[in-house]
Amino acid sequence: MTVLPQLDQSRLLRRLAEIARFGATGAGGLDRQALSADEVAARSYVLEVARERGFGCAIDAIGNLFVRRDGTDVRLPPLAAGSHLDSQPKGGRFDGTLGVMAALEVLEALADGDVDHRHPIEAVVWTNEEGSRFAPGTMGSSVYAGAADLAAMLGATDAAGTTVAAALAEAQAALGPLHHRQLGLPFAAYVELHIEQGPVLESLGYPVGVVDGIQGARWLQVDVAGRAGHAGTTPEALRRDAGDAAIRAAAAARAAVHADGDARVRFTIGRIAFMPGSINTIPAAARFTIDLRHPDAAALDALDARLQAAIQAAAAPCGVTIDRLMDNPPTRFDSRVIAACADAAERYVSPPFQLTSGAFHDAQFAARLGPAGMIFIPCADGISHAEVEDIEPDHAVAGTQVLMDALLALDRAL
Ligand code: GLV
Ligand code: MN
Ligand code: MN
Repeated sequence: MTVLPQLDQSRLLRRLAEIARFGATGAGGLDRQALSADEVAARSYVLEVARERGFGCAIDAIGNLFVRRDGTDVRLPPLAAGSHLDSQPKGGRFDGTLGVMAALEVLEALADGDVDHRHPIEAVVWTNEEGSRFAPGTMGSSVYAGAADLAAMLGATDAAGTTVAAALAEAQAALGPLHHRQLGLPFAAYVELHIEQGPVLESLGYPVGVVDGIQGARWLQVDVAGRAGHAGTTPEALRRDAGDAAIRAAAAARAAVHADGDARVRFTIGRIAFMPGSINTIPAAARFTIDLRHPDAAALDALDARLQAAIQAAAAPCGVTIDRLMDNPPTRFDSRVIAACADAAERYVSPPFQLTSGAFHDAQFAARLGPAGMIFIPCADGISHAEVEDIEPDHAVAGTQVLMDALLALDRAL
């Protein structure tokens, strides 16, 4: 007789509440940026559960954690699920964390029911998905997949000049002994549960959706070089005001990407700074960032070229340097994983609903190491990357159930 594994719903919800203490902000959200003391504490919380349950725990060279329940066939690669524990500087409690805690609940439920599976099943905690403290985002998964260079990423610095390598060394000391995991080991399949971070599922009243792919995302850093001077004495004609040039360039870039009226374009300037940043000094330099997204790779290239030309023209006579900090190409998920998630989602929505992710996710790099896919649940008012981010407990349970059912179906099929 096959025993169907049972999720422990109250354990899942309790663990989600408990892990939200690490990095909690007064306004109900999280400030738990990558490899901060609070993020390391959240990792320790996950490892404590894993060690108590006797699951294997490993870490790789960029700090990704792998919690494993062994399968019955030692020759098979793992089926993996997971996400990230780091947050935006003022982020929500579920972006990333839901996917990690759901994967852990799946392992625990399988252990409770003494359920055999052929493949090892892993819960993965990817390092620095958000990219807010150390750019780029999806750092851990892109290094693991060989899409980003390990040495370059270890050398990335935060605003205080701390390197990823230094933060990681501190984290490792706090996490205690762990097995070493080689980078790039393939997955039999990878499935990530995440909140949608947009309004579609909620507006349609669906508790769960199946993700067919992820739009492309590019991050640019624009540096404008001018000349410092006195704000009160320098006539306009003698100025090379980097701040003024940056404002013109930012407006020109926005106008350039929206010139065709393509409603799929997403353009955000999330950070801008003037140096030296004094009220009465003409800025000698300015820096701003651009987050540009589109589902189509060729459109993304064209938009990028267009905005770069617009910035160069608008910033004159100041000089401009544009660096690409991240380039996550659009991803189509594997049809077998989409089908497994859709079959599992049928329990809640029939026919199952498919959508494309506007946010980037570690699943797009896991997809380079095996068939991958994602499951979304709604979030309140479609809001994420904000402290008010929230979900319905029933949706967390439904998403976790779909995750477990899909993983077990893939265990049989692959
Ligand atoms: C992920 O955090 C994103 O910005 O899409
Ligand atoms: Mn996320
Ligand atoms: Mn995020």
